[in-house]
Amino acid sequence: MATGRVSMHGQWSSRLAFILAATGSAVGLGNIWKFPYIAGENGGGAFVLIYLLCIAVIGIPIMMAEVMLGRRGRQSPINTMRTLAAEEHASPYWQWLGWAGMLGGFLILSFYSVIAGWALAYVFRAGSGLFTGLTADGVQSIFSNLVSEPERLLAWHTIFMVMTMLVVSRGVSQGLERAVRLLMPALFVLLLVLVGYAWNSGGFEQGLEFLFRPDISRITPNGVLIAMGHAFFTLSLGMGAIMVYGSYLPDNASIAKTSIAVSLMDTLVALLAGMAIFPIVFANGLEPDSGAGLIFQTLPIAFGHMDGGAFFGMLFFILLVFAAWTSAISLVEPAVAWMVENHGLTRIYASVLAGIVTWVFGLLTVFSFNIWSDFKPLSMISIFKDHTIFKLLDYLTANIMLPLGGLLIAIFTAWKMHQESSMDELAMGEGFAYRLWRFLVRYITPVAVIIVFLNVTGII
Ligand code: PHE
Repeated sequence: MATGRVSMHGQWSSRLAFILAATGSAVGLGNIWKFPYIAGENGGGAFVLIYLLCIAVIGIPIMMAEVMLGRRGRQSPINTMRTLAAEEHASPYWQWLGWAGMLGGFLILSFYSVIAGWALAYVFRAGSGLFTGLTADGVQSIFSNLVSEPERLLAWHTIFMVMTMLVVSRGVSQGLERAVRLLMPALFVLLLVLVGYAWNSGGFEQGLEFLFRPDISRITPNGVLIAMGHAFFTLSLGMGAIMVYGSYLPDNASIAKTSIAVSLMDTLVALLAGMAIFPIVFANGLEPDSGAGLIFQTLPIAFGHMDGGAFFGMLFFILLVFAAWTSAISLVEPAVAWMVENHGLTRIYASVLAGIVTWVFGLLTVFSFNIWSDFKPLSMISIFKDHTIFKLLDYLTANIMLPLGGLLIAIFTAWKMHQESSMDELAMGEGFAYRLWRFLVRYITPVAVIIVFLNVTGII
């Protein structure tokens, strides 16, 4: 607030524009593709409960911290951390937080884009009426046909990367603001339609029970880490995406209110997706733990049997692509902003460069589903015994890099940064709300992350 810094990349037109952009970043494949399948793999209710708890006590406070750091520094995460560290008399090494985030962004986008490619492919499959009348078996074989062909996956991955870089090269606030304003509500309505279908599918009760009745015996230390990692992943925290978006936030916007609004919307979308998918799983005798293909093997059954299913199906996958698109943009924005700031590159040039690097990394994921599907590099470690390269990348980023990033953000904001600085930037007074925030960031986040890490590694 008091720094008077302005961002060289521009600013969101209003608080609402920021909420839309941050929601666009948060709501994505994480909510609709990943949340249901990891909830399914980790036993349902208890997992969901831990995830919700993590959103409330870690996610929201860390989101506020990231937005606050971003707005105070008003640069790419690397330079923001450098500037703030100097200002707060902390070690210059804090800029490494920005570097790690940039690397995390590349790695995440490399597999994110491949999965978004599946959604693109399904726009056409749904629209052509391919799913009409199909049973679970038919739908399953369509999915395995798609992922078994590397050329096809590569083509869709390429298209999605080009789409992402086109928007990034034009600057985030331009097309993005308008797109999100329209598409987010549409996605929401369509999810409601799907929940409506699931209601009548015959498996609704069983689906809800699976999702919301916690059975503590089904949760493992690794499951707790996955739930916590997902809280970071789904809210786009721990790697600088929300920080860089915060750097474009107008001075007078309330950081607390916007962070809470974004987190609530994100959580609602995930829960709706779960409520649409699990009833279909149970009504059709499918397994909730069937893995990364879950939504591609369940929702088409619904579209194949409802009136106007080809249309709704196509619309759903279009919206899913958009949700993924607005998230993908935020994954590279920290890197692109940094290249523009430090190397004088144009946005276009920086985007092309970032796009090529990510595209190449993406090959690892493409091949994980076909020619390298039997390659399990860490199979000697029991929790990784059937992890392909794709699954390892997902695990490394979501469950290790993001929580570690979140831990460091917590330490910087609540231990290194002077209290006057955070109070000034958050501008919420020094009452209960501020003290609660600071307590959560100062104690709860670090302790929780460290305990969960130690627990998984078997140290405690
Ligand atoms: N939050 C996004 C999703 O749920 C993914 C993401 C992670 C985006 C980290 C940016 C940073 O799909």
